[in-house]
Amino acid sequence: MKVLAVGGGGREHAAVEALHRSGSELYCVMKNANPGIIRRSAKHLLCDEKDVDRVVAFAVENGVELAFIGPEAPLEAGIVDALEKAGIKCASPTKAAARIETSKSFMRKLVQDHGIDGNLSFASFDNAGDAEAYLRTIDHEIVVKPVGLTGGKGVKVQGEHLHSFDDTMEYIREIFDGNIGGAGVILEERAVGEEFTQMCFVDGRHIVPMPLVQDHKRAYEGDVGPNTGGMGSYTDSDHLLPFVTEEDRKAALAIVQAIVDALADEGCPYRGVMYGQFMLTVNGPKIIEINARFGDPEAMNVLTVLESSFEDVCLAMAEGTLGADVKFSSEATVCKYVVPKGYGVKSESGHEISVDEEAISKCGAVAYYANVDMKDGKLVTGTSRSVGVVGKGATIEEAEANCERALEHVKCDAVFVRHDIGTRELVQRRVDHMKALRSA
Ligand code: AMP
Ligand code: GLY
Repeated sequence: MKVLAVGGGGREHAAVEALHRSGSELYCVMKNANPGIIRRSAKHLLCDEKDVDRVVAFAVENGVELAFIGPEAPLEAGIVDALEKAGIKCASPTKAAARIETSKSFMRKLVQDHGIDGNLSFASFDNAGDAEAYLRTIDHEIVVKPVGLTGGKGVKVQGEHLHSFDDTMEYIREIFDGNIGGAGVILEERAVGEEFTQMCFVDGRHIVPMPLVQDHKRAYEGDVGPNTGGMGSYTDSDHLLPFVTEEDRKAALAIVQAIVDALADEGCPYRGVMYGQFMLTVNGPKIIEINARFGDPEAMNVLTVLESSFEDVCLAMAEGTLGADVKFSSEATVCKYVVPKGYGVKSESGHEISVDEEAISKCGAVAYYANVDMKDGKLVTGTSRSVGVVGKGATIEEAEANCERALEHVKCDAVFVRHDIGTRELVQRRVDHMKALRSA
């Protein structure tokens, strides 16, 4: 089947690879020349992924039947609405359904109005004065978020990034003055626990869960530094995580199902991958954010072990015929992102990077190209994450060791990696942290 794939990151390379495995004929649109995606494309177009008219024209010209959209920005620009109008089926949400991600206040209000579990107390503001007045009335720690999209980088947490009332107000003013996210500020109760990602395939009504993943948002080893889009992630062979019980997972899935039901009731049924990010607290999973797409890096973990035909899954999401029979292999995975020097603060870009895919494959790993580009015949780094390396294994430890061996075959002199992701020490710290919270 002729399939349109939009996006040029590691997440999209993993999706394109999964579609290729299932026999799709691919037509890909991205802004950077991602070599992993281009080599799988029958045709590709380099352009702004939010340029809805150009993308739809490219899809129509090439007789595309089904579309998969990787990133959130084109969803917000209404790409799915336009593709559907042109008669193309979409395995991604409409602009109205994607508000679950594109407006953090829409998400919190929907969850509140429908009495769904897992909400955190919150208040949204369109000016700094009102936010300040609210801040003076509360006695718990909060998290400051721009309401609109910021690529995962706009969130600051009291007690981690913000250490006083003044710090907090300074950041709130910065968001308004700089119009960061473009839609005001939301102040949320700070949840304490361990984070995990539950992604599901959704067809408007039904959800089918993927393996649980833990991402690492902080830029530096030991979970310190600024928030990033995600530095790396792991899954376990039983599709749970070492600190998450079957019961915790059921609670998270009930929340995702309730959100899908609420969106259908509100007249904007959700089709596509839904990403639930949860903080597992002593009172069960709390919603940190809901995204209208695969997580990046999380997509690379789960799509590497997807055994079912991804094209079939996408078609079923688009047509509302999702069955319960989506299969993932019983392997653990560890993904570490190679990112440009300065990433998270101010990236250095334009450095040559080389990836020996054959050697990586011999290590029991796969490499996915992300924000790299071709310049004068050479592969160079961009300002965002460069290459994701996913190690596979029977256990997290084995997958981590394979990932580390594979990383030696990615060469560049201006990059860094969080080597602690998926190590026995860091995973054990998560388990111990959860145990301590539960017994306190
Ligand atoms: P987000 O972009 O909403 O995923 O936030 C980025 C990171 O900030 C998350 O991965 C969490 O580590 C942290 N964070 C966001 N919201 C909260 C919250 N309400 N409580 C505690 N931590 C949070
Ligand atoms: N890895 C987090 C995200 O994709 O939003």
